[in-house]
Amino acid sequence: MLKKNKIFNLIILTLFANLIFIFFASKPQLLADNGTNKNSDDQKQILLSKKDQIINPHNYKYIVKPSNKICGSGNLSLIAFVTTSIKKFQERQLIRQTWANQTLFPSIRTVFILGKSKYYKINNDLVKENAIYQDIVQEDFIDSYTNLTIKTIAGFKWVSKYCSNARYTLKIDDNVVVNTPELLKFFDRMEKNHKQFTKHSYFGYYDPESLADRKKIVLSKNLKEKIQGPFHLSPAYLVSTDLSKRFYKMSFYVKPSIFEDVYVGMLAQKLRTNFIMLNKRYFHNWDNSLQQAMKLTKKNKRYYFALCKSTQDFKAIWNKFESLSLLN
Ligand SMILES: *[C@@H]1O[C@H](CO)[C@@H](O)[C@H](O)[C@H]1NC(C)=O
Ligand SMILES: *[C@@H]1O[C@H](CO)[C@@H](O)[C@H](O)[C@H]1NC(C)=O
Ligand SMILES: *[C@@H]1O[C@H](CO)[C@@H](O)[C@H](O)[C@H]1NC(C)=O
Ligand SMILES: *[C@@H]1O[C@H](CO)[C@@H](O)[C@H](O)[C@H]1NC(C)=O
Repeated sequence: MLKKNKIFNLIILTLFANLIFIFFASKPQLLADNGTNKNSDDQKQILLSKKDQIINPHNYKYIVKPSNKICGSGNLSLIAFVTTSIKKFQERQLIRQTWANQTLFPSIRTVFILGKSKYYKINNDLVKENAIYQDIVQEDFIDSYTNLTIKTIAGFKWVSKYCSNARYTLKIDDNVVVNTPELLKFFDRMEKNHKQFTKHSYFGYYDPESLADRKKIVLSKNLKEKIQGPFHLSPAYLVSTDLSKRFYKMSFYVKPSIFEDVYVGMLAQKLRTNFIMLNKRYFHNWDNSLQQAMKLTKKNKRYYFALCKSTQDFKAIWNKFESLSLLN
């Protein structure tokens, strides 16, 4: 495993304060794309080697989905897909009312990604919820913690098909608050200074300990999994939408891991994409997110994501983000 780590170089650049770049470097041999998308711009984007075979086709059917037109045809800044579970209606409501509020932030769209329940009544509630909010994407795999990787692929798939006019894709859990006003400013800065670069990049939280931690879990639960790194952590990460299309296509060729983030790390490595570490823009420890957020000031408010341990914290942190945005 140590050798594996040598295939990637850890290069530290200070492009601007607090951004660190990690470049994945593996050597692809052949340019080919045997996927279903005919768009020639996409064709040149996924690099496969001779031994790559389709081993993970994502053939699930939609049970519920919003109108194909919710993203419209104009430029959007962001499409967020929230991985959530069926019973978390309150959490979804909170998200709709706060960071994802489309009245406040017309250039973003949000959908919730779910699998199916065994119970008819529960699935039917989702049909009703979607009729009102037009933001539920439900596929026919079983909704369970062990299927999170499938859920993420479902998110990338939906974005590829129905929202490719959004500049960035955000994969996010339902217990993370987004500081939307600051995130939109971050996008503007990236567009202005690093447009081409960001097209091939994704952004997230990186913890060097996580590789060893996951290996421990695999050992203790006696799972048949080969964990390879590096990978970012799962709760919230940003991907250029151009790249999220390639993540989806590449997922056909990579065997799922039970860990969603390990899996996306593997896709990223195969795609030789840039990972940009944004650790300093996160409140990643939910035990003190609230405390930390309360200390933010007009001059120090560049935090984009806060993990929350309760819906109370979620609301309070959002209120703080919102009040700071009004101080301009
Ligand atoms: C893709 O198609 C080419 C020919 O068009 C073929 O040689 C290659 O083996 C295929 N690759 C996969 C992964 O199916
Ligand atoms: C939308 O984005 C494309 C690509 O960045 C750009 O060429 C076009 O001018 C934009 N359109 C609008 C209406 O902003
Ligand atoms: C979004 O914000 C607007 C303006 O503050 C508010 O009127 C509306 O109720 C909010 N939408 C949701 C779904 O809460
Ligand atoms: C999803 O998870 C359930 C329960 O863990 C499992 O039985 C099922 O095989 C998984 N996969 C799919 C595609 O539903």
